[in-house]
Amino acid sequence: MATPPIIDSFRRAGQGHVFAFFDQLTAPEQERLLAEAAEIDLAEIERLVNSLVRPGASAGVDLSDLAPAPYEARPEFGGDAAAWAKAKTAGEAALRAGRVAAFTVAGGQGTRLGYDGPKGTFGVTPLKKKSLFQVFAEKLRAAGVRYGRPLHWFIMTSHQNHAATESFFVENRFFGLDRACVHFFRQGRMPAVDFSGKILLESRCSIAMSPDGHGGSLRALDRSGALDLMQREGIDALSYFQVDNPLVRFIDPAFIGWHLLRGSEMSSKMIPKAYAEEKVGHFCTQRGRNVVVEYSDLPLAMQRETDPATGKLRYLAGSVAIHVLDREFIRRMASGGAGSLPFHRADKKIPTVDAAGAPVKPEKPNGVKFEMFVFDALPFSKNPVIIEALRREDFSPVKNAEGVDSPKTCREDLLRQYAKWATDQGAALAVDGTGLPAAEFEVSPIFGYDDDSFADAWHRLAAKPAIAAGLYLE
Ligand code: UTP
Repeated sequence: MATPPIIDSFRRAGQGHVFAFFDQLTAPEQERLLAEAAEIDLAEIERLVNSLVRPGASAGVDLSDLAPAPYEARPEFGGDAAAWAKAKTAGEAALRAGRVAAFTVAGGQGTRLGYDGPKGTFGVTPLKKKSLFQVFAEKLRAAGVRYGRPLHWFIMTSHQNHAATESFFVENRFFGLDRACVHFFRQGRMPAVDFSGKILLESRCSIAMSPDGHGGSLRALDRSGALDLMQREGIDALSYFQVDNPLVRFIDPAFIGWHLLRGSEMSSKMIPKAYAEEKVGHFCTQRGRNVVVEYSDLPLAMQRETDPATGKLRYLAGSVAIHVLDREFIRRMASGGAGSLPFHRADKKIPTVDAAGAPVKPEKPNGVKFEMFVFDALPFSKNPVIIEALRREDFSPVKNAEGVDSPKTCREDLLRQYAKWATDQGAALAVDGTGLPAAEFEVSPIFGYDDDSFADAWHRLAAKPAIAAGLYLE
């Protein structure tokens, strides 16, 4: 049999070892390996190996001309109350006009949580243990009712979790959403390489492929037809959020309004960092453009700098991966028309095979994965706007099995959120110094998914319930 041309191209690129076991494979195994190989852009891999992997490759981040990015402070912290009110009205009008869709990036591997299954299926709420996906679905359902039209929801999965994600929605009847409004698509993937730039095999018949990072979402939105669907439906604003954060207010009229009124192509929420070394990205400006600099790239001395006038941290604005993106901006980014997202290097322990084809489970990092980050689109966007958000209203991710950003901290933050909504309406409720209520109760997003919707629902109740352990407001 003639050698398939793709094998020749891998050999010419110095990656012929990918087919080392090819002759010993069954026909379906050969087909699988060839299909995976066909996904790989060898020129791109060579470029990345030269720029990110080879000894001497510069991994440094350009910190020249960096300054804190300006942001719109909330009215209670000195921001322009009239401008916030105007933004909210504009956002509500956009929601009623059907210009907004939701977008969850759910293609990550969730290794830190160590949960077996797509992260979105992980149970997080205090009483009902609703999954992350259910929480988002119910927020969307409620917002659809509030604004008089159902919202479309795009969910980006990975090759690994796509089927399991879709089945979860089918088994749960899409949590009451119109299934025609829920759209799943897979993100792209990239091969991992060893430290000399050789593509790693995961087994004798498969390449070690992994998702291309949340930045891959821009290409994937385009490739999947999501942007065309948005255009047909008259949707121009996409509300972007991560699958691990059940607190997120992703249908936030003020945020959407700021985005639209400013003609912004990519808007972001910031939360003030809790302390100097908090592990979040920092919103900065650099030569007139907004950028996010990761905590690992910003020298500690800069993270700790304070503003002499206010005493506050100078680099205060933490990035929490909540954005609104303009549809045509995504299209331009996906086509490379606006610029292209850089890849970042992550050193990982990557299961592979040895020269004889036997499995190897490395104890320490043995290779490199390549990922794109969505916030790298920021410098390419016109009129970007950053607004201040409250941590208790928007951010408590589930990242780790224990400790910070764990199921326990997230459950407690959900309880604090419910308690704040209830006490704001005059409910009697004992809370500790951190706002954590003594009674474990739960608010269904169908009852209230933010302070406004909760207040409306509470007022409609003829008899106000006592907030006590086990109460479920729905
Ligand atoms: P994280 O950076 O927390 O990564 O993703 P992760 O893969 O989920 O978790 P770890 O690091 O292995 O523990 C932040 C968000 O971006 C999504 C994740 O699903 C999560 O919503 N993401 C990440 C993708 O959609 N694709 C990716 O390739 C990476």
